[in-house]
Amino acid sequence: MGRVVIPEHSLIKHKLHYLRDRQTTNKDFRELIAEITYLLTYEATADLKLEDSEVETPLGLAPTARLAGPVPVVVPILRAGLGMVEAILHVLPMAKVGHLGFYRDHDSLEPVAYYDRLPPGLSERTILVVDPMLATGGSAAAAIATVKKQGGQNIKFVCILAAPEGIHALQNAHADVEIFSAAVDERLNEVGYIVPGLGDAGDRIFGTL
Ligand code: PRP
Ligand code: URA
Repeated sequence: MGRVVIPEHSLIKHKLHYLRDRQTTNKDFRELIAEITYLLTYEATADLKLEDSEVETPLGLAPTARLAGPVPVVVPILRAGLGMVEAILHVLPMAKVGHLGFYRDHDSLEPVAYYDRLPPGLSERTILVVDPMLATGGSAAAAIATVKKQGGQNIKFVCILAAPEGIHALQNAHADVEIFSAAVDERLNEVGYIVPGLGDAGDRIFGTL
């Protein structure tokens, strides 16, 4: 079973306080999503493959290391996942970006696919599939199935908030995928929202409430 990583980090907890606050403005919400994503990216990229290298410093030769292999791919699940992309590219500027569009049907809560554009060469790359919310897990599981169908093998899922139901569903569908989340909340409510959660992430990022 893939690891579930919930970093015990004071800054993440502090920023989550403001992210959850219903009074937080769209601008601050976007900034907090990005700041928490930076901190999660630190964890999710800790095991990227390295190759030995060396570099001349002003004082001599230093043994170093550099990222090895084809560049990683970030795959936001539209639309809320877009709020996490810039933060990842800030620390992984060479990454390629694929896009997968899914929305949840309001009644069935089943994911509906509407867009799919991934870069080539997925089988050799580390792939970070990102979406702020892992609720029922349907969208994440369907997105990862699409990535796998197009050759992806080394896949991590990065989110801001997860429900226990979503973690179980994603692990059942894709036991090989590691999950990184800033927090795991209590449960889903009767309409599939994470409680206590933060509301609708896409609406709060894009101001469509
Ligand atoms: C939200 C969220 C996830 C999905 C999570 O997207 O951003 O993609 O729901 O729910 P699930 O785990 O139950 O599938 P939504 O369908 O609201 O679309 P949006 O990003 O366009 O707002
Ligand atoms: N999508 C959201 O944006 N929020 C939730 O709580 C669940 C799904």
